[in-house]
Order: sequence, then C-alpha cells, then structure tokens
Amino acid sequence: MISRLVSPRDILLLVAGAASMYLLSAWFLIPDRITVNTHFNQYPIALDHTTAKLSGRATTTVYTTRHATRTINQFRTATVTETVTETVAPEPTNSIDLAPVIPETTIIQHAPGWTVFRNLYMAHGTLYIVTSDREAFPQIRTMSSTGIAFKNNPDNIEDRDATPENMDFLTPEEAKDLWGPDFTIGETFNRIVSVEGSTWLFNDPRQFLHHYYHLVAELLFGAWAIWTGSFTESSYDTVFQYADVYSPPPKVDRMIFVHSDADGWRDSPGFDAYFLRAAFPSTTIEHAEDWQDRVTMSTTNTSHDDFYSATHQRAWHFPLVLLADRSGAFRGQSCGSRTQRTASEAWEAMITRGQLPGLAVGGWWSPIRKAVWKFAALRVGGPEAMILPMTQLPAPETIVITYISRQAGNRRKLIDEDHEGLVSALQELVDRKGQGWEFQLLEAEKMTKDSQVRAVSRSTIMLGVHGNGLTHLVLMPPSRLSTVIEIFYPEGFAHDYQWTTTALGMTHFSVWNDTYHSVFDKPSVHYPEGFQGTEIPVHGPTVAKLIEDRVEGRL
Ligand SMILES: *[C@@H]1O[C@H](CO)[C@@H](O)[C@H](O)[C@H]1NC(C)=O
Ligand SMILES: *[C@@H]1O[C@H](CO)[C@@H](O)[C@H](O)[C@H]1NC(C)=O
Repeated sequence: MISRLVSPRDILLLVAGAASMYLLSAWFLIPDRITVNTHFNQYPIALDHTTAKLSGRATTTVYTTRHATRTINQFRTATVTETVTETVAPEPTNSIDLAPVIPETTIIQHAPGWTVFRNLYMAHGTLYIVTSDREAFPQIRTMSSTGIAFKNNPDNIEDRDATPENMDFLTPEEAKDLWGPDFTIGETFNRIVSVEGSTWLFNDPRQFLHHYYHLVAELLFGAWAIWTGSFTESSYDTVFQYADVYSPPPKVDRMIFVHSDADGWRDSPGFDAYFLRAAFPSTTIEHAEDWQDRVTMSTTNTSHDDFYSATHQRAWHFPLVLLADRSGAFRGQSCGSRTQRTASEAWEAMITRGQLPGLAVGGWWSPIRKAVWKFAALRVGGPEAMILPMTQLPAPETIVITYISRQAGNRRKLIDEDHEGLVSALQELVDRKGQGWEFQLLEAEKMTKDSQVRAVSRSTIMLGVHGNGLTHLVLMPPSRLSTVIEIFYPEGFAHDYQWTTTALGMTHFSVWNDTYHSVFDKPSVHYPEGFQGTEIPVHGPTVAKLIEDRVEGRL
C-alpha cells in the first residue's frame, strides 16, 4: 500500500502535492529540456506611469511581475515569472477624475479563475479592461463568466462563457470618450469614481457559497493564495519554492458577492460567517443588491429625455481588485482536469512562480489560521514556521487525535456499531500509549464554534467521514506529524479534503473500511452507491494502527 522505498526528499516532494509533481519534475528533474518559447506571453506590468507622474508624493518601491510561458517539451508548458522592481509614486487619491489619460488596466497575477488587476473599471455591470494592447491579456473566459449556476447539462458550459456584457476591452481613447469630461456642457472631471482600497470581487453563483468547504477551503483559500502571491517577492530557484521574503499583502477593504444576497453565502451551521468575520474582521461585505446599486448608477438611461443622463456614462474604478471566477478556474488544467478544486489553480500558479511563502507547512495560510485562532481566544505565538520544511518542524508535545463525528446528521455517516468501534479503538490506543496521547471526539452540534476551533487548533491527527466538518483541517497547527484521515465508502474518493490537506503541507490518508491509500497511491475520483449513505463501514483497529504507524514514523 505505502511504498517504503522513498527517501525523505521524495516525501517532501510529494508533500508539495501530487498535482504539483508535474510542475516540480518539469523544473527539477529535466531542466535541460526546457526551452524558452518564442511566443513570450507577457502581461503589461502593473505600473501606472500616468498617475505616478501626476503625483508629487514620496516614492515607494513596487514589485511587479511578468509571466512568460516556457515550453518544456512538446506536451508541456510552464509559466515563469520575473520580478521587476521600480520606484514609483503611490497612486494619489482622486487622481482618476483628473487623469488626462484614463489609467490602463494591468495584471499583477493571473491564474485561470483568479486575476488580480490594477485599474479595472465597471459600467452598467460590465467589467472593462482599459488597454491599448488587448492581445497581451489572458482570454476573457479564463477571467470571468456569466456567473450563472453550474448545471449538469452540456449547454451549461457554454452558457457560463463570458459575453462582452460581462467583460470587455476599451482603448484608453474609447474610455476617455465614454467617461471623460464633456467640455461642451462645462464638465471638467472624468465621470469615473474610485472605489478606493482593495476589493475582492466574487463572481461565483450562490450555489457554491453557502457551504463551509466551498466558501472557506475553495474561495477564501484560493483568493488568499493568489493575493499573497501577488505581493510576495519571487524566488523560484530552490527545490521547495520558498518565497523567502514575506511581507503581509494589502488588507482587503471589501469583498463583493456579485451574485449573492446576504443569506446566500451563509451556511446553516454558521461557520462561513464565523470564519470570514474572524479572519477578516475589518473587511466590509457587499452583496448583489449593493453591486446592483453600482450597476444602476453607471447605467445610461436612454429613455430619459434629460440630455445629460441619456448620453453620459459613468464608471466605477477599482484601483486594486481580485476577480475570482469559478467557471474561469475550470478552464484551467489543474482544476479542470486533475483536482476539480478551483483553489488549485491559484495555488499551483503561485508555486510555479515561487511566490507562495512557507509552502511546505502552509505558511502562506498562516495569517488566516492565526487570525481565526486569535478570535477563538487562543494564545497565538510560537515559531512562524514560514520557511521550514514539514520534516524539520518539531513533533507536538502531545499527540492529539480528533475524530469529527457526523453521526448526528442524516447522511454520509458510519454504521453505528462501526462508529462505536472506531471510538473505542482510538480510546484504546491513547490509553495504551499513556502520557502524551489524547483523543477527542468532536461532535460539532454539541459545541460552540469557539470550542471547535480550540479543539482543532491542538489536533495532530484529524479524522472523519468525507464531509464539510473536515474543512476544519485548515485550522490545524503545522507539525511534523500533521495528518488528515478521511473515511470514504469503500472505493469512493473525491479530491476536496485530500487536495486541501496536501496544499497545506500535511499528510492525507483515505480509508476504505480496513484498507487505506495515501497520496502515493491516490484512488481515482469515484462516487459509488453508498457514498452518501448512512451505512459507511470502518474498521476501527485499522484506523488506530494507521495512526500509530504514522506517529511512530513507519508511514
Ligand atoms: C429611465 O428613466 C425613466 C424616465 O425618467 C424612468 O421612468 C425609468 O425608470 C428609468 N429606468 C431606469 C432603468 O432607471
Ligand atoms: C470491514 O473490515 C472488517 C475487518 O476486516 C471486516 O470484518 C468487515 O466485514 C468489513 N466490512 C465491510 C462492509 O467490508
């Protein structure tokens, strides 16, 4: 089952995630086969000379990136990034309404479904990229979509494809014609209003928001990966791709759920709201209604007989914005064909470009994890663990085994006797081991959210049946032994928690009753009959033995 013929280095490589193996091997195992593609796909760098020139303020150093596509062999390409350092003036407040030339849109980072822009515009619901070089931008379908719900029919993929109503290009001249001052009626300012600070714009349908897993472990997880990577200095020349310069990314001033009302992103147990407010306490949240205000206020009303409002369009300007789009992520190779996890596009792109700090221990995610711990009144301290590989982290003083039970729910749960057998096998294990071992049964419905977070924040091993509760793994502390054990109906498998676990540098096992698989022999995605049922078998002693072997270094 588990090959013992692997070196610690191999383990580390695999810890980085089976998905990224292809990228790692591309870079480190066959470097001599890399040739630079003659089609050098370079986005416009994220500098705004127009506004820089307008400002008389002190200058700051800005790191920006260029992405290039390299051909590794006839089947594979990879993206590399160069960091460009330039000294510019900060963008002055309100410069936008005076700008003689409408500042062009630039891209700081892009992966399918995840794009960080400077100077993105919105009028009448359309997102506008203002550029004199539209060929330099990624395909619109990898950045945006209609944002409608995902359905299981062939037309749906096409129906989700962005139209020019969702996103479009304007040249700076066209933008000036539309939004510049009309001197004939005495106007002096551009009809552009800045939504200052930074914005996360979520174009996802409501369908994927009101679930703890999708909101936290996909949307926020991917957003934080690309956001962190956008502002981390690149260093991609080491095997484990540590970006060793970590400075916190800009704070997120607002998140906008374009297609969801206030209820639409809240899950019924309430963990979405808890997590989001704990991790981003100062962030303002706007909903579809708020977005609609902005849409209406920038819409030209042609039936109006007032000359002014009928002919003059107004635009909103987003100086710094992350656009997250679920359909866009599915256009990518990783999400679309390997993991089905939207966050994997952001995560893999940042790793390839060497811009995710503390990859091997999920250090990039640490600010979020710590914010939530702190909210739950936990002492937050200890080593930052930003750049250490997992194997160099200390083992925890106490091995805490946390079993997240789903037995109170009405689907996807264990056979009752097997649940009891599992609890007693784990209890027997910690009793036998004695000091330094602890078992906790986490029954979410009987606990406050704070106490759940506290329980998870001390867990070395977390286990449970495939389901939302396992999302708590994003709050586990990194240690040499951090492990997630996911119980599936035999033959069943899905990537949700497996991918997320490995993205944080932790070890994952899938249990099928009395057998198990690791990332070394990961099963294929499969939903057999019984997957969602209430008769999932598990052999407690097998799980206890797996934990013992893992803790004692045999796995
Ligand atoms: C456009 O203007 C007309 C006349 O003032 C008004 O009745 C109508 O509601 C307006 N439409 C929109 C979409 O604001
Ligand atoms: C689960 O494993 C145990 C131990 O090997 C076995 O006795 C039991 O029949 C298995 N259950 C199923 C449903 O396969």
